[in-house]
Amino acid sequence: MKSGKEADNIPRNGYSRRSGMAEMVEVCDVNDLPSGSMKGLEYEGKRILVVNHNGQIHAMDGTCTHEEADLSIGFLMENRITCPLHLSQFDVTTGEALNPPATIPLKMFNVKIQGSRIYVQIP
Ligand code: FES
Repeated sequence: MKSGKEADNIPRNGYSRRSGMAEMVEVCDVNDLPSGSMKGLEYEGKRILVVNHNGQIHAMDGTCTHEEADLSIGFLMENRITCPLHLSQFDVTTGEALNPPATIPLKMFNVKIQGSRIYVQIP
C-alpha cells in the first residue's frame, strides 16, 4: 500500500527518483538554510544552487552561464549572486543575468517544501 508521500513521488530518505518527466531531489531541512544563505549541491553531474531570499526558497543552475564557475562559492547579497570568476551577477529570484560578461540567464527549477524538507524538481 502506498502512502500519500509515495503517491507524490517525493523521496523520504535523501534519494531521488524519476517521476514522469521530472525528478525530485532532496536538498536539506528548511532550518539548515536560513534567510540570506545558499547551498550548492551536485546531482548527476549538474550543479544546483538553492537560495533562501527573504524566506522564499529559489533553485537554479549552479554553474555560471559565462564559463564553468561554481556559483555556490560566489557571493550572495540580497537577491544577487555574484560569480566568483568574472563577477557577473544574477538575480536569484528570476535567474536574470544583471551585468556582463554573462548575458544568458540561469535556468530556474521548481522548489517544493514537504514537511520541513526542501526538494528541487529537476526536469
Ligand atoms: S565565469 Fe561567471 S562571469 Fe565569467
